[in-house]
Amino acid sequence: MDCTDLRGVYLEPREIVPKVFWVGVNDCVKDLFESLWPIPGGISYNAYTVIGANGAAVIDGVDEHLTYEYVGKIWRVVGDLRKIKYVVINHLEPDHHASTSKLLSLAENAQVLISPTGAKIVESLYSIPKDRIVEVRDGDTVSLGDKTLRFIHTPWLHWPETMMTYLEEDGILFSCDAFGSYGALISGIFDDEVELNYYIEEAKRYFSNIVSKYSKNVLDAINKVEKLGLKIKVLAPSHGPIYRKHVDSIVALYRDLSQPKVCAKVTIVYGSMYGRTEEIVKAVAETFEKSGVVVDLIDAARVHPSYILHLTWNSGAVIFAFPTYDASVFPPVKEVMNYFYVKQYGRGRLAAILNTFSWGSSVKEAVETLNKSGFQIVEPVIATKSQPTSEDKKKIEELVEKLVTELRKLGSCP
Ligand code: FEO
Repeated sequence: MDCTDLRGVYLEPREIVPKVFWVGVNDCVKDLFESLWPIPGGISYNAYTVIGANGAAVIDGVDEHLTYEYVGKIWRVVGDLRKIKYVVINHLEPDHHASTSKLLSLAENAQVLISPTGAKIVESLYSIPKDRIVEVRDGDTVSLGDKTLRFIHTPWLHWPETMMTYLEEDGILFSCDAFGSYGALISGIFDDEVELNYYIEEAKRYFSNIVSKYSKNVLDAINKVEKLGLKIKVLAPSHGPIYRKHVDSIVALYRDLSQPKVCAKVTIVYGSMYGRTEEIVKAVAETFEKSGVVVDLIDAARVHPSYILHLTWNSGAVIFAFPTYDASVFPPVKEVMNYFYVKQYGRGRLAAILNTFSWGSSVKEAVETLNKSGFQIVEPVIATKSQPTSEDKKKIEELVEKLVTELRKLGSCP
């Protein structure tokens, strides 16, 4: 899906239930989310306006370059920005709140509602005066007359200050990053209006890229919301579709992703300058396939780490195969290793190392990085000089056998 054709196209505000409006925007301009992750299908920043008998509240905002579109939509649904009593900050990151200073300058009666942890950061991040900031504790509510907002602290999704907001009368959970996905909202804003399979795949990639390091916190948040017994009729995240037909499915998906069940699958991440490493890994891949292990063979020089993390979500093992380059791990493979380290994405997985070189091994550097990433490294670590010797070939066979044995214990992949 490509949203470049939608650049500059204005999506109308939408009433999602009576007196609650989607006032979000599509970003079809950025090529990289967080300047890291490719978003060929764009991304949405969903924001919402709740209109109560005694005033209005805005839930979250958008990235700075789309501020005027967002503020214009709020103005269209409230009529007079002075009616806004509250701007709720569920999560401070600028993709949601770089627009908030501008909104507050126009909505002169509005106060910011934010978690105490967020309150410590918001003033300096967005220059919001102290007297406009109100801290909300876990479980606090505010009333708009006939609409009540309840705040649920769900820290570390994926920043320390994160919370969710629940609209009691309508059963809407505004969850910000949680349950989000990449992908601009092209054919509609609801799960039953869009090509859902696309967004589900992009939700998996988004999860692996953005929140996977905080999987335990995601699980804690889901358990907390379930324990509170909130009836969720509409799940309204800040990225991707709004769920009204498949609420249980997206919650179940996030639950699964936050406690990945690795299976008999190996991801081989390789780099090959002149074809020799590729020849070795292709032979290794064939052996795995014959043993009934699922294999993903990925050329790190040609696939962005965003997709490699996503494709590895259920892999029981990752083999890193690379030549030495300038006395170091071949840069594209090193880059993937660094992403695994930053995201701690090796936890619960095995790793194997296969280094080819002509004049200097780079195994030590690889071992250090992968150890720090949470992997359990399987021996023998292979370093083959020039052409693999018969001894090297035996070691590769031994390594593959060990991995097959360990991977079979995990059971086959669905
Ligand atoms: Fe969508 Fe963590 O910002």
